[in-house]
Amino acid sequence: MAEELIIPAGGKRETYAALIPQIKSLTAGETDRTANMANIAAALKQTFGFFWVGFYVVKADTLTLGPFQGPVACTRIARGKGVCGAAWQEGRTLIVPDVDLFPGHIACNSASRSEIVVPFAGPDGIAGVLDVDSDRLAAFDETDAWGLGEIVRLIGDED
Ligand code: SME
Repeated sequence: MAEELIIPAGGKRETYAALIPQIKSLTAGETDRTANMANIAAALKQTFGFFWVGFYVVKADTLTLGPFQGPVACTRIARGKGVCGAAWQEGRTLIVPDVDLFPGHIACNSASRSEIVVPFAGPDGIAGVLDVDSDRLAAFDETDAWGLGEIVRLIGDED
């Protein structure tokens, strides 16, 4: 495909529905996970204008910063720590409407107000998480959980 996204005007569900097949085309011919994560982060930033969007990858039993778009961020997160470490430990998507109310939230940037973290699987279990931060409270809901959940399935599994 041409490396250009076409996103029609519409609600959030329609936007994800338009974006998912385009990310599928973008990642289809590419097995390298880092390359795909980089394009996915860019596509999400470009489409939704998220404050911060990116990946943490499990390396040596620690979440390590991967491709992202947005301000500089923490590089390593231990299992069970912060929203990312909790989503990894629990193996499920976490939606945090107000990060100040999440015990142990890791504030990489003080402008972040709400967050969603979506784990993704590799050949040996959870391989990492997609983390999206907003500078607005309660920016994420089940539609994001669905859309981002579909998108992380397109990452591939080769380092
Ligand atoms: N807030 C996250 C840390 C990562 S940054 O938001 C990019 C957390 O609590 O795990």
